Amino acid sequence: MPASQPGLPEKLGEILAICQKMNSERDLGALLDLIAREATNLLECDRASMFLLDAERNELWSKVALGSEEILRFDARMGIAGHTVETGQTINVEEAYADPRFYTAIDGQTGYRTRNVLAVAMRNQRGQIIGAFEALNKNAGAFTARDEESLAALASHAAIAIETAQLVGELRRSQDELVQQNAHLWREVEQRYSSHGIIGTGQKIQQVVRLVERIRDSGVSVLITGESGTGKELAAKAIHYTSPRARRPFVALNCAALPETLVESELFGIEKGVATGVQSRVGQFQKADGGTLFLDEIGDLSLAAQAKILRVLQERVVERVGGGRPTPVDVRVLAATNKDLEAEIARGGFREDLYYRINVIHIRMPALREIREEIPLLANHFLREYCREMGRPDMELAPEVQRRLVLAPWPGNVRQLRNEVMRMAACARSGVIGEEDLEGLPGAPSENTAAVAVPAARPPATSLKNAVEELERGMIQQALAETRNNQQQAARLLGLSRQGLINKMKRYAPAG
Ligand SMILES: Nc1ncnc2c1ncn2[C@@H]1O[C@H](COP(=O)(O)OP(=O)(O)OP(=O)(O)O)[C@@H](O)[C@H]1O
Ligand SMILES: [Mg+2]
Repeated sequence: MPASQPGLPEKLGEILAICQKMNSERDLGALLDLIAREATNLLECDRASMFLLDAERNELWSKVALGSEEILRFDARMGIAGHTVETGQTINVEEAYADPRFYTAIDGQTGYRTRNVLAVAMRNQRGQIIGAFEALNKNAGAFTARDEESLAALASHAAIAIETAQLVGELRRSQDELVQQNAHLWREVEQRYSSHGIIGTGQKIQQVVRLVERIRDSGVSVLITGESGTGKELAAKAIHYTSPRARRPFVALNCAALPETLVESELFGIEKGVATGVQSRVGQFQKADGGTLFLDEIGDLSLAAQAKILRVLQERVVERVGGGRPTPVDVRVLAATNKDLEAEIARGGFREDLYYRINVIHIRMPALREIREEIPLLANHFLREYCREMGRPDMELAPEVQRRLVLAPWPGNVRQLRNEVMRMAACARSGVIGEEDLEGLPGAPSENTAAVAVPAARPPATSLKNAVEELERGMIQQALAETRNNQQQAARLLGLSRQGLINKMKRYAPAG
């Protein structure tokens, strides 16, 4: 055998070297170029290309040339490549233009002149044909039986590398999609909470907003108090989602819902096998690592649980139930309660030292009856939110409805207002929510309650100033009625000083 025609054993070394190069290339385009380049050297020919099967479209596709982004596509039954893919056979053609299977249109498209062709099938690991591997124009003479073996050996490795690269490409694309979706969700969350999501322009709500802004970056513990439905959790989320911890978890734990026996394992986690059948579980402190743990209804924790939480706050480590090494945790703790914790301390139901730990900053959420001036704004906000979520055209609240909402007692605070607006919007018969939709507003003062002198049929206010005056007059009357004309108490209800109330009463006193 002449030295210029090495046998397969020598070729195997070369093929192995090519395989190593192939395995480190994950980009499909670059991989196809690499294989084609190596194949031309291996087979001592002018060109090599891979035709890959697009099973969905029943087409074969290939790069037009090395380094080119241009793609050639044709019917998967056409040409020598098509035959190979269809039958799995190796085809070795000495005179391309004399062979009826040869598809001359491809030369026409690429401007190349094919003399002879060797084609072998490429199979994946499951034995499925994924395409054809062609070598074109042997440098001297025609392709030999040895070339057939070499190309077949190369093709079997190439097929696997190509399939892996395709898979990696798909994974990358779906990962990119996920990253984009995730970024989109983050923008939504941030938009929702970046302006805090806390609605209200008056002094009391703005005080809360300013406090949230001031403390969000500091990592200090915050105690949020207020009646049910006043927005304690909303404030906690506003702090978290505008803080540097925003992209780490916000974990809310309702302490009132925890049975005494589960408090510890829920908060700190549990080791496997502590009791029969117990699987190990991480606790809420660890779940919130790097982020924020919101201890809701902290006033309902037992004294024993309080002691354990205090320890975590002091030492910044948690120990799972059933032993295990103490694990450091980096958690910001926000706590909320509608109880009067100082009274609880006096009664012996809450630990004073824990109170001082969590009450570094105190945010008090006002009851809705203390911020009645915010009701129209809040009601309209919830209505817009409802329409947007339901994909309905915007709706309106009739002025009488707004007046009635402003004056209702709202024991359930903003949550109750929100529910009421949603209920009215869902039941409304037109785009304007009128008095007929108000029916059943809990505790709403009825038309004939003498104390509430809000005329139902006043001509529409002519300007914002008139509307505000009208609202103020109604609220003052309502507050005085509620407090049996006690000016001090009425002023407090309205968030005014006594003198401020007296000034307003003078302004609104009927002339003459
Ligand atoms: N100022 C506000 N602006 C906008 N929405 C508010 C405001 N206050 C409360 N809400 C909304 O009212 C509802 C109740 O709020 P949240 O759950 O935060 O109250 P809470 O004080 O935690 O109540 P509870 O004590 O019953 O747990 C939520 O839908 C919240 O978004
Ligand atoms: Mg809550």
